[in-house]
Amino acid sequence: MEYTLRKAEPRDVSDILRLVKELAKYEEMEHQVRLTEKDLLEDGFGETPFYHCIIAETQEKGGDGLKVVGFAMYYFTYDPWVGKQLYLEEFYVMDEYRGLGIGSDILRHLSDLAMKTRCSGMMFVVAENNESSVNFYKGRGAEDLSQEEGWRLFRFDKDSLVKMATPAEE
Ligand code: ACO
Repeated sequence: MEYTLRKAEPRDVSDILRLVKELAKYEEMEHQVRLTEKDLLEDGFGETPFYHCIIAETQEKGGDGLKVVGFAMYYFTYDPWVGKQLYLEEFYVMDEYRGLGIGSDILRHLSDLAMKTRCSGMMFVVAENNESSVNFYKGRGAEDLSQEEGWRLFRFDKDSLVKMATPAEE
């Protein structure tokens, strides 16, 4: 199977949203995806990109052109103890294209990028019940920080933010 990895472009937002939804479905949380193509376009390709994507694309023999079959969404964060970190937000390869090395290749690409930008690590969150993915990462040396260091993941949702924020003037 021949495929190429490339940086996402604005024309890819519909494929990105399709894969985001497929991953959410895989994680049984599809109903939580509220983002639209317009959001993805504005947030990823405006003046200040809030995310970046690497796309895996195949050209199938006898097929009708290029097909986006996998992606990784990432951005950079900062840890005051160790500096720059690459944060892997989403990582997905379509079912029928798994096990061909595309995922490993994407991780290689991101590792090269992390080295080039002098990041000290790559962070990500995996659902506890996503055993195959946990094994995939652990097999490549990832540490489970919840288990080893006792970190817990928190979020203020929008309602909590509204309560804490300065009240809007009447
Ligand atoms: N399906 C899945 N895995 C297979 C298959 C298959 N049909 N056949 C073999 N494998 C094994 C491979 O042997 C390999 O194992 P290894 O650890 O011994 O090398 C591994 O599974 C797959 O390696 P690759 O081919 O390099 O990776 P792939 O292209 O399958 O992509 C990924 C890996 C992205 C995790 C993919 O399996 C996937 O999309 N899974 C479902 C979604 C998911 O869990 N995503 C990660 C969520 S966590 C996050 O986003 C931060």
